[in-house]
Amino acid sequence: MSTEETVTIIDDATGKEVKLPLYTPTAGPKVIDIGKLYKELGYFTYDPGFMSTASCSSAITFLDGDEGVLQYRGYPIDQLAEQSSYLEVCFLLLTNRLPKKEELEEFVSTVTNHTMLHEAMIRFFSGFRRDAHPMAIMVGVVGALAAFYHDHMDIHNEEHRMITAHRLVAKMPTIAAMSYRYANGKPFVYPKNHLSYTENFLYMMFSMPSEDYTPDPLLAKALDLIMILHADHEQNASTSTVRLAGSSDANPFAAVASGIAALWGPAHGGANEAVVRMLIDINESGKPLQAFVDRAKDKSDSFRLMGFGHRVYKNYDPRAKLIREICHQLLNDMEATGEQQKLLETAMALEKVALEDEYFVQRNLYPNVDFYSGIIFLAMGIPMNMFTVIFAMARTIGWISQWNEMMTDSEAKIGRPRQLYNGAIDLDYVPIDKR
Ligand code: ACO
Repeated sequence: MSTEETVTIIDDATGKEVKLPLYTPTAGPKVIDIGKLYKELGYFTYDPGFMSTASCSSAITFLDGDEGVLQYRGYPIDQLAEQSSYLEVCFLLLTNRLPKKEELEEFVSTVTNHTMLHEAMIRFFSGFRRDAHPMAIMVGVVGALAAFYHDHMDIHNEEHRMITAHRLVAKMPTIAAMSYRYANGKPFVYPKNHLSYTENFLYMMFSMPSEDYTPDPLLAKALDLIMILHADHEQNASTSTVRLAGSSDANPFAAVASGIAALWGPAHGGANEAVVRMLIDINESGKPLQAFVDRAKDKSDSFRLMGFGHRVYKNYDPRAKLIREICHQLLNDMEATGEQQKLLETAMALEKVALEDEYFVQRNLYPNVDFYSGIIFLAMGIPMNMFTVIFAMARTIGWISQWNEMMTDSEAKIGRPRQLYNGAIDLDYVPIDKR
């Protein structure tokens, strides 16, 4: 990275000046390179939650939170949602270009032909408690891929990294569906190669050996769209976790398992489950929506409006806009039940009340990607504890593309943040009988 521009930092205490390089990205704010600050001034910087810190340089996803812009490899998300497919987006994220027709066919065929799990891996599932959360199962089983697929695992070999990426994209729906089947006491269903990626997932989730099952193309299409919208989102908590774990040259399946763990939290990917639970609570309570908005504003109450707010978007999340449309369309097309329609109505009414509320206006709190996605999943017959699993399935391509990019970045180093220590120092050990 080269730059002509600099920023001068003056230490008020000593008067010492340090010139730091200022980089201009292709889009987004300029970035100060503080790498030599400690060497020059002896100071660290302090930025909990990375509010102003770029942890890496990346050419995969761009988002402008003020304008509500999201692009994968330079292509706007709405164009991809309208014209592309999830697997084509996977190719794009991984390789940095749209595939030619034959290339896409070959990629789809590779993914389709690697959806099976090693039979010994399937026995892994039976070690989990029957009532385990599918995300807990997924963290364990994806980590276990490291133990089963360590052939072709030279992480410094580009071809091997591609094989790893293909394996992950191919096997995630199988692992996700098996996590659900196990937790519900249903027999595992093996993938069928004549089905599309999302049809196959629905087939592995919902078919029973005793009955014929044809995945609904409407649901498969909606799921494909949702997967596109969740495929990557630059340096969010789970992606940063994958990068950090992978920065020590750890096994990439293990690094992705750590990303799944980070995604699980309700402040991140777990919010889609939390939103639906909140909407159901609202409907059951019979209380006015304002009562819930007021609780969310009350700092002494830990309740927050789930599916609202975002670290980067200070405008409407473009994914939420698209998902709201899909939600409307799908619920109409499939003649959803009154209960499902009621959830959507409550969500839209809640959005309206919140967006007109001074507290939410002042803080630029808008619906995020999770606000409407849970309602769609529920209408598809997907149970609540599987919502974040589907998010993880879709985000896998983002995680592995970002990991792959890091592996080729000559400036990448093992991630090792510094700290502002404010604990005790230089104490003398007190023997236990003297304390
Ligand atoms: N409800 C009520 N108040 C909120 C909400 C919310 N959902 N989100 C933010 N705020 C308030 C905060 O209390 C804070 O108020 P203050 O300035 O008076 O202290 C202000 O808005 C700024 O919020 P922060 O928490 O500082 O923002 P941060 O960037 O750290 O957090 C987060 C972003 C975690 C997404 C937050 O908005 C939140 O918890 N939202 C609900 C959970 C959710 O939907 N998560 C999914 C995010 S999308 C994704 O990960 C896929």
